[in-house]
This record gives sequence, C-alpha cells and structure tokens, in this order.
Amino acid sequence: MAVKKATIDTLLEEDRIFHPPEEFTQQANIKSREIYAEARANPKIFWAMQAERLDWFRKWDKVLEWNPPFAKWFVNGKLNACYNCIDRHLKTWRKNKAAIIFEGEPGDSRVLTYWDLYREVTRFANILKKLGVQKGDRVAIYMPMIPEAVVAMLACARLGAPHSVVFGGFSSESLRDRILDAQAKVLITADGGWRRGKIVPLKHNADAALAETPCVEKVLVVKRTGQEVSMLDGRDYWYHEMAEETPTGCPCEEVDAEDILFILYTSGTTGKPKGVVHTTGGYLVGTSTTHYMVFDIKDDDVYWCTADIGWITGHSYVVYGPLANGTTVLLYEGAPDWPNPGRFWAIVEKYHVNVFYTAPTAIRAFMKWGDEWPGRYDLSSLRLLGTVGEPINPEAWVWYHKNIGGERCPIVDTWWQTETGMIMITPLPGVTPLKPGSATVPFPGIEVDVVDKDGNSVMLGKGGFLAIKEPWPAMLRTIYGDDQRYVDTYWNKIPGKMLYFAGDGARRDYHNYYWILGRVDDVINVAGHRLSTMEVESALVDHPWVAEAAAIGKSHAIKGQAISVFVTLKAHAFEQLKSGARQRSEFQDELKAHVVKKIGAIARPDDVFFTAELPKTRSGKIMRRLLRDIAEGRALGDTTTLADPAVIAELKRKYESRES
Ligand code: WTA
Repeated sequence: MAVKKATIDTLLEEDRIFHPPEEFTQQANIKSREIYAEARANPKIFWAMQAERLDWFRKWDKVLEWNPPFAKWFVNGKLNACYNCIDRHLKTWRKNKAAIIFEGEPGDSRVLTYWDLYREVTRFANILKKLGVQKGDRVAIYMPMIPEAVVAMLACARLGAPHSVVFGGFSSESLRDRILDAQAKVLITADGGWRRGKIVPLKHNADAALAETPCVEKVLVVKRTGQEVSMLDGRDYWYHEMAEETPTGCPCEEVDAEDILFILYTSGTTGKPKGVVHTTGGYLVGTSTTHYMVFDIKDDDVYWCTADIGWITGHSYVVYGPLANGTTVLLYEGAPDWPNPGRFWAIVEKYHVNVFYTAPTAIRAFMKWGDEWPGRYDLSSLRLLGTVGEPINPEAWVWYHKNIGGERCPIVDTWWQTETGMIMITPLPGVTPLKPGSATVPFPGIEVDVVDKDGNSVMLGKGGFLAIKEPWPAMLRTIYGDDQRYVDTYWNKIPGKMLYFAGDGARRDYHNYYWILGRVDDVINVAGHRLSTMEVESALVDHPWVAEAAAIGKSHAIKGQAISVFVTLKAHAFEQLKSGARQRSEFQDELKAHVVKKIGAIARPDDVFFTAELPKTRSGKIMRRLLRDIAEGRALGDTTTLADPAVIAELKRKYESRES
C-alpha cells in the first residue's frame, strides 16, 4: 500500500482526529457507516445475518431468548466450534492455506496448514477420548504458546468438552484452585515453555497442583523443552508417545448453541476467581464477526495478536475468531525483548505481518527501549494496528502510529472484557475517525451507556459508569456454578435497572466517543491483566508474618498499574523489624516472593510498605482509595467515613518521608 500521511486535524491536544486513509477505506471490509443504523434498527436481524458466516448442523429457531439477566442465543441451533475453525475450510481452497505460523522463542519455526491442523486436532481429540474425555467433561490446559496449545483447545471443542485454559505464568496454587473449581477430569500441560531463554517448568508446577486435585484422572504432557520431568505411572502420558499409536480423523460432536465452549477464570473484587462461562453459538458469531470487521481481515493477511492463549484475547482473537474466518494466524512463544528488544519487529519483517494487535503496556515498553529498534526493520507489510487491555495514553498511541504504523495504518483501540467475550467498543478502521486515547464507538448492534449510580445516563462530557444496555451474542452466560454471583456482580449493581455493569469508568465526549477511565472497583490492571486486590491480600495474609494487608494499583509508566502493598506485621515479626534483627529488605523480598508463589510472577508487588495500622471505615472496611491517594502523592480524598483520621495522617507522613 502506498505510504500516505493520514489527515490530522489539530484542535486541542487530545482532540486530534485521524481520518481513515482513503485507500484503506476503498479496500475495507466495512466501507460505510450504514451498518450502524442497520444494526440498531433491528439487532436480532443483524446478528442473525452475521450468524450466517458460520456453518450450522441445524439452524436456530429463535435468535434470542432473554430472561434478564440470562440469555440464550440462536436457540436450538446445533454446531461445532472446531468444525467451523477447521473442517469447513478443507472443502475450499483454504485446505492448504497456512492456519498457524509458529515462531518459538529459541528461533524454531513451524507452519501448519488447515489440513495439518485437521490431522493434529483430530488425533489429539482421539487421544483425549482414550484418556476418558467425553462431551461435557472439563479439561484444564496449562501450556506454553505453542501450536499444541491451540490444538488442545480445538480438540476439546471437537469433543464438546469445555476447556479451562490457565495462563502458564500462574503458580501451582492458582492452577489448583482453577482445576478444583471446574472439577477438571484431565489436565493438558507441557514439560515447559521458553521465556527469556529460561524454561518455565510447567509440568513441575502442575505436579504440585495435582497433589491436591483428586478430580484429575489423567495428565497429557507435550514435550517442548526436553528437560527431565517426573511422570506418574497410570496418570501421566506423553503426547508424542500416544500420538504414535493414535489415528487421525475423529468425528465432531454436534453441540447445542448454548453448550459450554469454555470456562475462563478472571479476577473479581472479592473471593476466589470467577469462572466466566462462554457458550458456543453466540460466542463464535460474536468473535468471528468482530474479527472480520474490526481487523478488516483479508484472505492473504498474516495476522498477529500477541496475547497469550491463557487470556480471553488469546481465546477470541488468536484462536476462535481468526480460525473461524480461515485466517493465517501468527503464534509467538516468547518475550518481546528476547534476545533483544527488536524481536517483535524481526518477526513482523520475517513473516510479512499485515495486521498486528497488542497491549498498551507492550507499546510503552517499546517506547522505553527506543525508536531505533523498530527503525531497524522493514515494517512496511503492516496495514492495520490494534490495542487492547487498558486505556492507551495518547502519547503511546501517537508513537505506535508513527514508529510502527509508518503513519499509514489505522489503529483500532478495542474495549472489551473476559466477560464480554468479543470486542464491544472499537473503531471500524475503514469508516471511524480516530482520536488517540479513545476506543471510539460501540460496535454495530451493541448498546452502551455511561450512567450515574442510579442508572441514569450522564451528560456528554461527564464521567460515569460504563454499562451495556442490551444482551449481545458473546456475553458470558454465568459464573461457573454460581448464578447468584453472576447476577450480583454484573446485573444488580444498579438497583432496579437491567444494565450490565462493566466495572469501568467512562466518559462520552461531544462526538459521542467513549473514553475509558479505568476500573472503578478494586481490580488492579497490571500490564493489561486483571488482578484483584483481594487475591493479593489473601496471599500476603497467608504468610506467618502478616497480620493484615491492603493492595492497591499505583500508576506505572510501563505497566499501567503496579501493585503496592501496605502490610501490618504480626507482633513477633514487627519486633524483628523494629529491632533490626531482620532487614526491612529481607521482609520485603520474602513477602514479594510469597505472593509470586501463591499467584504467579504477574502479581509480584513492586512496593511493600509496613504500617502499624491501615485506614478503615467505621464498619472495618479498608479504605484503599486513601492508600491510592497516598501512594500517588495526591491530596487525600473524602476522609469523613474514616474510623480514626489520625491513622491516615501518620501513614501519609511516614510514606512521604520514606520516599523523599
Ligand atoms: C480494560 C481484556 C481501556 C478495562 C480484553 C476492562 C480497556 C478490562 C481496554 C478487561 C481498552 C480492556 N481501553 N481499557 N481498549 N480494553 N480494558 O477481562 O478495564 O482481561 O474492564 O479483558 O481491561 O480485562 P480482561
């Protein structure tokens, strides 16, 4: 595509508008804004039309059955997600098209065509059957970013067995809790994965979890890193050994549109992680439609979404959306800065990546590493960029646009959640003028609002709570095993109104563009990943030294937010700290390591501060909001509900004197 500067209207700093380049619009999958009006006029017809992009074994009787807040989409429709992602492409010229281009961190590379993927997935499904997996059984997946991770997911889908993917960076204990909650019967893992030249010991971590998960009957282990791992006779099986004696070719289970496709755990504000339930028909319609329209996907594109399959972005936009659309998907195993900060751009150059989707935290890291890294590579194959996971600051947006997109690629800033399953607020790159930092407008057929605490729309320009007004096909159906928690968390926050409460603050500007202001609940967004203050606090309190703890998210230049914790030590530990019998840094390191052990490296606190008391309300609730004010050096907000105002004044003084 010719390099042409996009039009820039400079008004105020944050009012810069980037219009879609004309040549982009001309070739775009969606060229006209009419789609918004069409979808709004009759959303059910709109979604029914989109559902035609899939292959159904039996057509649905009804598009939507809505018993608020419980939805059924494509009622009585029958299909199979794996069939839609693989088999149907085999009847077309795509049979020998690359489905997955894999680059391992050490530099190894593999290409699987759709036909290859069919053979791998059907054999994998046959192995799962041998291990006793049947329709409806839950299968846990704890894998590195290698093709077998995708193969494992699709094999489960083929059998109608819901998968629960647990991010490979999570600890044994996190894995254990998720396995137990879903009562998984089989675990699929690997000996290890590569990360910054080191082995992530997945099987070793899994063994610790498996000691406490009696529900798991069999474990299938993929060989990736090759180091010695322990295998328990009768429970653990090597994939490559079983593959030798297992044929390819395995029929697809016909599943109902509302059968569970997967469970994915995400952090809530309180208690244990929530098993977000996604079903098959609506989810596949929502993800394939958005993937086609938002990423403007073409058959000759190489598409790269950098998310790990352990997150929803990996499910929706590495696996199900793209493969349903017959896309060539790039998969990279490792870190963006290994062996040097040019790795991503070397991959773009090597495989001629056309569409690239990543997180603001990665973009900010690239900014820090310097313009020279992308500058060394030929990035001219790129035609469209995307971001997801947290608000992108306009500065990072403009850097991305210039240094990666060569000022010719539109950027789709996509707002959505594990719970929404699909992209909800986003530009359509051929038609939506872009404003750096704004996710722009709701996707066609999606009704969004910004409301006050009573559920009334706030005026344009004012901030409020982001809410979704109408059901959408890829919405979560419930929290696994806990309908009441589903109702309370998402639908009962605004009394008397049936609104989906996203937990994000937002503002709508005078062009009706949405600006996401971040979480309004006690969820910390570290590098685009949600962690609850509650989980971090429970991990700390689990340590014998700790009496009480409060975790907060503190602004961080690269990660968006970093975790800071305020800890009250038990008397014996406090004595040791005061007397100097043990160094402060020793306490800090020990507690940081403990959180990593309990949750995973992603939850490592950046900062541990010791305090004799935490600020609390009269009813005993920790006021994290005030701790955030202190950590960020702001004036304290409303302190009228504090039980003892002296606590906070003392804390602020101490915190500041430590920092200065
Ligand atoms: C945040 C990730 C601003 C938001 C797909 C949301 C964003 C949470 C954006 C969901 C965006 C996601 N702009 N904020 N474009 N995208 N978020 O469940 O706070 O891991 O509620 O899903 O990420 O995170 P989750």
